[in-house]
Amino acid sequence: MTNPAPHRIIFANEKGGTGKSTCAVHFAVALASQGWRVAGLDLDPRQRTFHRYLENRVSTAKRRDIDLPTPIFEVFEGSTIEELDAQVARLSEGADYFIADTPGRDDVFARHLATSADTLVTPINDSFIDFDLIGQVIPRRFRSCAPAFIRS
Ligand SMILES: Nc1ncnc2c1ncn2[C@@H]1O[C@H](COP(=O)(O)OP(=O)(O)OP(=O)(O)O)[C@@H](O)[C@H]1O
Ligand SMILES: [Mg+2]
Repeated sequence: MTNPAPHRIIFANEKGGTGKSTCAVHFAVALASQGWRVAGLDLDPRQRTFHRYLENRVSTAKRRDIDLPTPIFEVFEGSTIEELDAQVARLSEGADYFIADTPGRDDVFARHLATSADTLVTPINDSFIDFDLIGQVIPRRFRSCAPAFIRS
C-alpha cells in the first residue's frame, strides 16, 4: 500500500523580505520536533535561506553530538515544471508534511506549487508598501477596491 500524499504547506509572497523563509524554517522544525516526517524544498537557489538554515542545524547537531529533529531538505535548481514535480514527488515519499519556501519575486515554480498547496501561507508586513502590492486601497475608507495588478 502506498503512503498518502503529505500535506503541502507553501510559503509564498512575491514581495521580498516578508518572512517567508523564517516562517518556513520554524514550521518545518516545529513539525519535525513533534515527531512528524517533514520534507522541505527551497525554491530560491540564489539566496537558499531555508536550505542554509537547515544545513547549519545539521552541522550544529554533528558538532555538538546531539540529536536535533530536522526535516529532510533540498534546493530546487531545475528549469522545468516536470523537474519540479519529480523532485517534489521524490521528496514527498514517506513524508507527513511537505514544505516549500519560495523566492520574493513572481516565479513560475512558486505559482505552480501555490496552486497545489493544501495550506498556502502568505506572510505580510504591516506596512502600506506591502499592502499596496496586493490591492489598491481607497484612502478614505481604507478598503481595497481592486487587485494591485492583474496577471495574465
Ligand atoms: N516575525 C518576525 N519578526 C521580526 N523580524 C522578522 C520576523 N520574520 C522575519 N523577520 C526578519 O525579516 C527579514 C526577512 O525575513 P525572511 O528572509 O524570512 O523573508 P523572506 O520573505 O523569506 O525574504 P525573501 O523574499 O528575500 O526571500 C529577516 O531579517 C528576518 O530575520
Ligand atoms: Mg526567503
